[in-house]
Amino acid sequence: MKITVQTATSFTVQAHSLTETQRLAQELAALAAPGDVIALRGDLGMGKSAFARAFIQARAGVSIEVPSPTFTLVQAYELPSGLISHFDLYRLRDASDAYELGLDDAFGGIILIEWPERLGDGLPRNPLVISFLPGATADGRAITLEGGASWAGRLDFLKLKF
Ligand SMILES: Nc1ncnc2c1ncn2[C@@H]1O[C@H](COP(=O)(O)OP(=O)(O)O)[C@@H](O)[C@H]1O
Ligand SMILES: [Mg+2]
Repeated sequence: MKITVQTATSFTVQAHSLTETQRLAQELAALAAPGDVIALRGDLGMGKSAFARAFIQARAGVSIEVPSPTFTLVQAYELPSGLISHFDLYRLRDASDAYELGLDDAFGGIILIEWPERLGDGLPRNPLVISFLPGATADGRAITLEGGASWAGRLDFLKLKF
């Protein structure tokens, strides 16, 4: 995996396969902490759920079942390292419904959100935004990570891995 674009607060890696996307998720999982909000953006089939699955399994340390929350909208995991809440807001009708789903309760833990656009202005502050775009081949993905001040140091460290 190579970094292709870089600014002070963001970088893009080219993942050539699912395995490479999973490795990125695992490296990020090692740097994440309770209170982090990670927004996963990109079209259907780009790998948001695959990324979330690898991230959650890495935090769990063992292979656990991580279903896509397409229909339930949220799946929560009480792990020894803390709570992870995985949202998929594709089917959300109204941004305020996200709070009925328990977005407030999830804040103390790590939050992964697919389709964060559905929240409109309600997206929690200081998220790490990860955007998935098609790459040069069918299994290629251009993955951009962009975070604010609370992510700068960790993104600098993460970059060194690729
Ligand atoms: N580099 C890659 N990164 C992520 N997924 C990939 C990659 N290459 C192929 N895939 C496949 O693309 C699909 C992604 O599906 P999914 O994670 O459910 O997407 P989304 O949640 O974005 O709709 C999976 O079938 C996965 O195996
Ligand atoms: Mg998905």
